[in-house]
Amino acid sequence: MTKFRKIKQQKTLVTSALPYSNGPIHCGHLLEYIQTDIFVRFLRLIGEDVIYVCADDTHGAPIEIKAAELGITPEQLIAGVYEEHTKDFKDFLISFDNYYSTHSPENKHYSDLIFLRLKNKGLVYTKDVEVTYCEFCKRTLPDRYVKGKCPKCDAPDQYGDVCEACNSTYKTVDLIEPYCTICKNKPIRKTSTHYFFKLSQFSKKLEAWLNKNRNLQPEIKNFVLNWIKNGLEDWNISRDGPYFGFKIPGEENKYYYVWLDAPIGYIASTDNYCKRHNLKTEEYWQNKDARIYHFIGKDITYFHFLFWPAMLIGSDFELPYDIVVHGFLTVNGEKMSKSRGTFFTAREFLQKYNPEYLRFYYANMLSKKLSDVDLSFDDFRKKVNNELAANIGNFCYRVLSFLNKNFEGKVKDIDNNKKLIKEIDDKIKGIKKNYYDLNFNEAVKNILHISSLGNKYFQDNEPWKLIKEDKEKVHGVLGLSVNIVKNLSILVQPILPNFSLKLQQQLNLSNLKWKDINFKLKNHKTAKEEILITKMEEKAEGKKIFPLDLKVAKIIDVKDHPNADKLYVLQIDLGSEKRQLVAGLKGYYSNSELLNKKIIVITNLKHANLRGIESQGMLLAGDDGQNVGVLTVDKSEAGEKVYIDGYENSTKELSFDDFLKLEIKIQNNHAVFEGKEFKTDKEIVMVEKVRDGRVR
Ligand code: 2FM
Ligand code: ZN
Repeated sequence: MTKFRKIKQQKTLVTSALPYSNGPIHCGHLLEYIQTDIFVRFLRLIGEDVIYVCADDTHGAPIEIKAAELGITPEQLIAGVYEEHTKDFKDFLISFDNYYSTHSPENKHYSDLIFLRLKNKGLVYTKDVEVTYCEFCKRTLPDRYVKGKCPKCDAPDQYGDVCEACNSTYKTVDLIEPYCTICKNKPIRKTSTHYFFKLSQFSKKLEAWLNKNRNLQPEIKNFVLNWIKNGLEDWNISRDGPYFGFKIPGEENKYYYVWLDAPIGYIASTDNYCKRHNLKTEEYWQNKDARIYHFIGKDITYFHFLFWPAMLIGSDFELPYDIVVHGFLTVNGEKMSKSRGTFFTAREFLQKYNPEYLRFYYANMLSKKLSDVDLSFDDFRKKVNNELAANIGNFCYRVLSFLNKNFEGKVKDIDNNKKLIKEIDDKIKGIKKNYYDLNFNEAVKNILHISSLGNKYFQDNEPWKLIKEDKEKVHGVLGLSVNIVKNLSILVQPILPNFSLKLQQQLNLSNLKWKDINFKLKNHKTAKEEILITKMEEKAEGKKIFPLDLKVAKIIDVKDHPNADKLYVLQIDLGSEKRQLVAGLKGYYSNSELLNKKIIVITNLKHANLRGIESQGMLLAGDDGQNVGVLTVDKSEAGEKVYIDGYENSTKELSFDDFLKLEIKIQNNHAVFEGKEFKTDKEIVMVEKVRDGRVR
């Protein structure tokens, strides 16, 4: 008998870029994590030995400055953000094997190891450079913390590295009339000694790697080769304190620049995982047979295609097998922007939509091409409704419900429709390649095609009619249909892991792998069917939640408050209900001025007791320090909704403190939130007596 020796399986390591610890995960980030996660889940599904690691990118001046502003330590800041990030990722079903932090002992270890290896080989040297220093803040100012006039076009208030008016780039020291953005004082110039990495020495090696590596996207490769051709400059890898990061060995007040230790975080996170799973980090990072995939956005190409590989070469680590670069995310065709209401955090998205809808939508849009992706909410709803719900969701549901209703969920035989089976098998081969090649848009198309074939097959056979004549035949049709459903549950798994899990539960199966794709499921009993995908309604798309539920109310009675000089007790009509409010308008309005006025009321404010009288809401008024005037409408009726474009009013109960946190301004007798006016379907809300001020 031949003895088989189990061949050791090739190891694969996959990473996404490490998000900074100073802000929330948003839909732009999610494009990358969802892309990476689909790929990793696919590799697991086909049985590859893969781990997916990532971490928070915790170092740098912005984090140190933000923590100081908040009056907490950077450690406290990054700990809080870590909690939020990990929760967001979990809820979007991002299946990291390890999600770590760059502020870790492992990262310190590898940063020192790599730095010292480079230094010992003469690849790091020191040089004096001129820096911008604020004597008031007692710190060297990073580019983003110095502003001034652009040296090229004179535009005011431009950052220290690039002018947003004329797009030119320059050195911070070239800014005209510079000022420190923290304290607004004029900074001085100072000389400081810094560590430089000899990137210029790596041109040949980097070029060779780029030319040899067949996986890299050609458009990126050419871009990077061009940068090399134009000459690489050595890279400053140190920063002066105060800084949040790792101190450079032997230095008192110098730290590694965040971009030195950030990518080393990939190794550190791997190391932390390996320690806990009895594996060796070298099996990933110093093993020619292992495959390392980095997924990144195109804005950080320079770091990942030049600095990072050069550091790896210089310190004897293996180079990545592939670096997958994706384009930017736009929302409704525009750059994501807070003021335009096109900036969605992961949390905001989750409050409104099923996370798998976004996974499905992004999968639909992603290929290995570098093009930008637009999250158009119109298209989003169409894709979810017409493809996910009406095609895949509907097919699976109708097959399982028919089987349960007519055959008690029993699968017996399978209709031997060779033509259909062959057609589906061919598609499946294509899908496997699509996933491997990161052309998820094609994978989705092909999956939908299979589901359409299934729908058509079911429809053409008219089992609801045929069952009266030939029950046996119908049972076979259902047998083949259930097999298609089962195969779909596997094919969609990388994109829709929850849907897949639940569908398999309904099939009374679990944990199916790619190798389980076949047409052999028979003599089996399925479980109860359930609708898994519901259609999205048209209205709410792309809207953010505004915490106030505002309505037009008509004042129908005004009385003096029995126990307070400044307060009125109002009875108001809200269309469908009547309520009582206590309002501090005495001295600003007489009783008769208020009677019959149409005002704007917060209806979801926690009811309060004001000097013994209950107030069931609050009216909105403007205040400029002298006058107080109510927000009012003319043509609108009691009960009509008051809103701002792009937002949907939340009906969740709100505390007074939360109300106070909102900044609603009065500009030109209009109430304005984030640059947008309050309105009803009929008119813009007006503010009486106050032209410019605040809403209270
Ligand atoms: O651009 C960014 O958001 C960085 N925090 C990405 C770091 S990726 C890696 F190099 F650590
Ligand atoms: Zn300053």
